[in-house]
Amino acid sequence: NNGAARFLPDQRDLASLRRAAASCQGCGLYRDATQTVFGEGPRAAAFMLVGEEPGDQEDRQGHPFVGPAGRILDKGLNEAGIRREDVYLTNAVKHFSFTLRGKRRIHQKPTAAEVDACLPWLNAELAVVRPEVIVVLGATAGRALLGRAFRVTHHRGEPVPLGEALAVATVHPSAVLRAPDREAAYAGFLSDLRAAANVRG
Ligand code: URA
Ligand code: SF4
Repeated sequence: NNGAARFLPDQRDLASLRRAAASCQGCGLYRDATQTVFGEGPRAAAFMLVGEEPGDQEDRQGHPFVGPAGRILDKGLNEAGIRREDVYLTNAVKHFSFTLRGKRRIHQKPTAAEVDACLPWLNAELAVVRPEVIVVLGATAGRALLGRAFRVTHHRGEPVPLGEALAVATVHPSAVLRAPDREAAYAGFLSDLRAAANVRG
């Protein structure tokens, strides 16, 4: 298995990429997941937000960030003054990875090999949308975009050059939900989103 590259279309726009990604078999995750959850948002979006992988709800519905993490993210974007029409939402990995516990599907972190396999889709989305600001949501997106040594905790809220864009990293919204002090975690998340909003002035 050599990753997603051989599934990419020659002619690349968001519609052709989405169509091609629907039948990607670039790693093993397509087998047990319901469907590919491709990125969504306007081609001219100034902000690209990159999460980890679809969750249970996203896998069922086919759209990124429509579950509990998405609700926190929506709230944060709203409060940071980032408008929906300026946002393209996607994930480092396009299929849900899980283990079964009884009938429950428990989210499993994608492996480094799965992240690498799926990266051609994210790079293609970046090449089409060419966002001004890339918001890196958590460690998986950080590793995919900024390399293995990148640590969100060391660089959160700090714009770093990434191609022609500036990347601003923050924690994953799911981590906000799991945090012992959820209010403090949300405040930190919001402050990073505000830093991302301020990159554009
Ligand atoms: N978590 C993610 O990283 N992405 C989603 O789309 C949903 C939850
Ligand atoms: Fe392809 Fe990515 Fe799905 Fe793996 S996770 S099958 S590389 S779309």
